[in-house]
Amino acid sequence: MRKSLLVLALGVLGIGCFHGLVGCKKAEPPKESQESIGPSGPAKGIPTMNIKKDGFGKLPDGTPVDIFTLTNRNGLKARIMTYGATLVSLEVPDRSGALADCVLGYESLDGYLKASPYFGATVGRVGNRIAKGKFTLDGKTYTLATNDKQNHLHGGLKGFDKVIWSAESFSEADAVGVKFGYLSKDGEEGYPGNLAVTVVYLLSNDNELRINYEATTDKATPVNLTNHSYFNFTAGARDILGHELTLTADRYTPVDKGLIPTGKLDPVKGTAMDFTAPFLIGARIAKVDGGYDHNYVLNSGGGAVALAARIYEPESGRVMEILTDQPGIQFYTGNFLDGTITGTGGRVYKQHWGFCLETQHFPDSPNHANFPGSILRPGQVYRTTTIHKFSTK
Ligand code: BGC
Repeated sequence: MRKSLLVLALGVLGIGCFHGLVGCKKAEPPKESQESIGPSGPAKGIPTMNIKKDGFGKLPDGTPVDIFTLTNRNGLKARIMTYGATLVSLEVPDRSGALADCVLGYESLDGYLKASPYFGATVGRVGNRIAKGKFTLDGKTYTLATNDKQNHLHGGLKGFDKVIWSAESFSEADAVGVKFGYLSKDGEEGYPGNLAVTVVYLLSNDNELRINYEATTDKATPVNLTNHSYFNFTAGARDILGHELTLTADRYTPVDKGLIPTGKLDPVKGTAMDFTAPFLIGARIAKVDGGYDHNYVLNSGGGAVALAARIYEPESGRVMEILTDQPGIQFYTGNFLDGTITGTGGRVYKQHWGFCLETQHFPDSPNHANFPGSILRPGQVYRTTTIHKFSTK
C-alpha cells in the first residue's frame, strides 16, 4: 500500500490581516493530513486520487525542474512544474467523460524557456502592467524593469513565471495538492522588500482546481499574484471564439493604446464589452480594437469568494466557473498569439487559440488612488483564493 503522509503548514498565522488588499479570512489552522491511496481506494477501473513527482528537465545552468501530476477520483489531471509554479496541462472531461488537455502549453521545458507568453504561469510580483515601470509609495518613487515597451508587465524581465519554486506535495481527505514557495528579494525587478510567497494548487474530488496565494513582506510593496493559464475547451480543435462567456461585472477599466487603464470605470451595458448575460466570445470581438484584453470590475467588489466567470463550450459540453475574492479579472483572448508557437500535441497556437481569465487587482493599481489598494505592508498577510470549477452540460 502506498502511503502519502505530508504536512501542510498554512502560512504564518496570527499576524495582521490585510483588509484593503484581499479577502482576508481567518487563517486556517495547520492541517496534518494523511491519505492512503491504493488498494483501499475505489474499485478497479476507476481512477484513484494521487500525486506523482517526476523530473521535467533542467535549466541551462543545470538546475533541475520537477513536475507534479495531481489526479482526482474522476480522472481529472493537473500537471504543475516548479519553473514558474506553472500549470503545464489540465485534463478535463467532456460530456461523454472523455478527458482532454484544455490549457495551452508545451510538452517539454524547452518551449517554456525559449518562448512562452506566460502559458499557465504564476505571475508576480505584480501581474499586468505598471505604467512606465514607475510608482510612488510613501513619498518614494520606485523604478521597475520595463519589458512591454516603456511599461512593466507581469513582474518584469524575470518575473515569478521564470524562477524555480520550492515544492512540497500533500494530500487531504478529498484533495491532492502542491505547495510552492519563493522568496523574492528586496530590489528584485525594482520592487521594495523581501517578499515571501506561497502558492498552493489543490485538486479536489469535486472537480475544483483551487489556487491559494499568500505573501508577507518586510517593506511596503505592491503585490498582485495571478495565474496565466490559456484555456481552450475544444482541447485545441479550433479557436475559442465559439465559447460562451458570462462575467459578473457591470463595469470594466478602459485602457489607452499601451493597455494602461485611463482610471475610469465604464459601464459595459450596451457595448461589446458586456458579458453580464452569456455571449459567444466571437460574437462581437471585431468591435473591440485588438480583441479583448481588459480588466473587468467584479460586482462582488472582492473580499469574499464569489462567482466571477462562467465559460461554456457547446460542442464538448465543458463548463468552467471561476470564483475569486479578487476585485478584478483580466479577460484576454490570446490576441498576440500568431501561429509562431507550436505547443502540446503539435498544435499551432494561432490568434484566439486560447483565452485567459486572470483574477487580479486592477492593472496599474499603484498609480490609481481610486482603484482597490494593492500595497502590502510589513505585519500584514496577502491572502487570496481562486477556484476553477469544472463540470459539463
Ligand atoms: C495581458 C496581455 C498580454 C498577455 C501576455 C495578459 O495578461 O493583459 O496584454 O499580452 O497577458 O503577456
